Amino acid sequence: MSETLANLLQENRRFEPPAALADAANVKADAYEEADADRLAFWAKQAHRLDWAKEWDQVLDWSNPPFAKWFVGGELNVAYNCLDRHVAAGRGDKVAIHWEGEPGDTRTLTYADLHALTCQAANALADLGVRAGDRVAIYLPMIPEAAVAMLACARIGATHSVVFGGFSADALSGRIQDASAKVVITADGGYRRGKPSGLKTIVDEAVAQCPTIEHVLVVRRTGQEVAWSERDLWWHETVETASTEHEAQPFDAEHPLFILYTSGTTAKPKGILHTTGGYLTQASYTQHAVFDLKPETDVYWCTADIGWVTGHSYIVYGPLSNGATQVMYEGTPDTPHKGRFWDIVDKYGVTILYTAPTLIRTMMKWGDEFPAAANLSSLRVLGSVGEPINPEAWMWYRKNIGHDNTPVVDTWWQTETGAIMISPLPGVTGTKPGSAMRPLPGISADVVDDEGKSVPNGGGGFLVLREPWPSMLRTIWGDDQRFIDTYWSRFPGMYFAGDGAKKDDDGDLWLLGRVDDVMLVSGHNISTTEVESALVSHPSVAEAAVVGATDPTTGQAIVAFTIPRGSVDTAGDAGEALIKELRDHVAKTLGPIAKPRQIMLVAELPKTRSGKIMRRLLRDVAEHRSLGDVTTLQDSTVMDLISDGMKSAKSDE
Ligand code: WT7
Repeated sequence: MSETLANLLQENRRFEPPAALADAANVKADAYEEADADRLAFWAKQAHRLDWAKEWDQVLDWSNPPFAKWFVGGELNVAYNCLDRHVAAGRGDKVAIHWEGEPGDTRTLTYADLHALTCQAANALADLGVRAGDRVAIYLPMIPEAAVAMLACARIGATHSVVFGGFSADALSGRIQDASAKVVITADGGYRRGKPSGLKTIVDEAVAQCPTIEHVLVVRRTGQEVAWSERDLWWHETVETASTEHEAQPFDAEHPLFILYTSGTTAKPKGILHTTGGYLTQASYTQHAVFDLKPETDVYWCTADIGWVTGHSYIVYGPLSNGATQVMYEGTPDTPHKGRFWDIVDKYGVTILYTAPTLIRTMMKWGDEFPAAANLSSLRVLGSVGEPINPEAWMWYRKNIGHDNTPVVDTWWQTETGAIMISPLPGVTGTKPGSAMRPLPGISADVVDDEGKSVPNGGGGFLVLREPWPSMLRTIWGDDQRFIDTYWSRFPGMYFAGDGAKKDDDGDLWLLGRVDDVMLVSGHNISTTEVESALVSHPSVAEAAVVGATDPTTGQAIVAFTIPRGSVDTAGDAGEALIKELRDHVAKTLGPIAKPRQIMLVAELPKTRSGKIMRRLLRDVAEHRSLGDVTTLQDSTVMDLISDGMKSAKSDE
């Protein structure tokens, strides 16, 4: 094996920033030089975008790696920075959240409204005995109270642990137990796919296993019947009757702000711990820099759920610390119809949209007519996060959503990194479809080989971070050793992200998926991402997932699961012909080594709750193993569909 990870895909399209956007951009090219000249001074300057009750003595203490301390000795209150300071500056009447419920009901919350509600929630939590340092679990639908609950915890120094509202009672109780949370904040239910789903019943089941829980605070959203016990309290009877006056106390820059569990597919979930000053500094700066957010004129919308880190950093802390006006949507993209997202963009005049590749590819599959039916001319910056975005999906996004002239920023980061790390700057970077381009100013990322040596341009390997960054995780909750083992042991002195990546001939970065997914075919390490992108570059394909299946001759062989675009005929011989055409197309695009042994046409792919493809399950299908646990699938019938497709598919070997 000569190379650490093969570099097969070539991409020559390039898009310069629109001149008007570049001229007025919040951040220009000099930011890179400034950060290169003095990284810590650069981050200190960004920290000054926030209001501190007490200035720090030292920007970074890295004397005990990998345990970092940022802005040592500094004190601030996160909720004060997200709310009070905007109200104090006379912006209380500015809309903070345009909320849209799935059934079509709406709410408008100004900064003054959000501030008052957060103060009430802070007072109510304090009355329930929640103190600084205590943990509060939050299990809510996408309603404004989710942001309020997080901000109220931050305000009183309690550490929140948001659990995605789609997780099971077992997942919820495991997370509550791991953090020894005192209170759970939930709702009777929320609206998903046109009907109310129950949350309180799941909390009741979970809390039966959680002796540390003293109270369950329940927001009434759907009005459905719920069981009630002594520890339960209605939000409207406690929070909404509490005083709207609350003085925010400052907390140490390293005070724990939140725990967020990563959705590990196999091992025990890891409670990723983030703290106060460094986290808010980087979340706030990246919101300003990467999205070019202009609080006075922009209407920003991040479609993520608040249960993921994207919702933490880019629905709550990033936008609100910058005083943004944003849209928050409760439901699914196809309720009541497949154009719902585009109606929302049209209705609120959304200017900045941040979404995930899985959504973009789903929209590609549904067809161009849905975005075409809405007026999307307000959009000026588009963002992507969560998975590698295939060049063709990137192009579709720019063309069909961004009317062929908005920058697309592909942002790489992780729950662990807390905020965006690698991304174009929309007013600076000439983008390449499918590339996250460069580390942001003040961030030091690299691609290294097996021995930890930096690969030259044109080479592939492992993505690492060479220097600590302000919003880095501080540890895994309760397990420092696992923190060291997981992230800091593979390459001494570097943070190992677990992702494969390559540098192109210009040194720009391309993310190639999780290294666990890399396929070893006849001695070549081939990334699933590159083969998937080659498939998606065929006009008949909307989405593809590729896995390596054990093969007697090549070690592993490439097996692809492919979703055709809506209009494509795949019945009978047409399907056979398409499969042959796709195999040849991949061989032609990437070289014969990457030609899939087998391609299956399927209607759906198995995904995690956050939209990532579950290649582990596809590997089981490809190797005819019996299926493992499928309860974390978005739709468990998917595997039946795929198994059926598998039975009928024919390999032409
Ligand atoms: C993993 C982190 C970051 C918020 C949402 C996911 C993958 C994320 C990109 C991107 C290629 C990406 C990586 C990463 N990922 N963004 N722009 N290009 N891959 O957070 O659940 O902690 O997942 O998502 O594999 O390690 P997460």
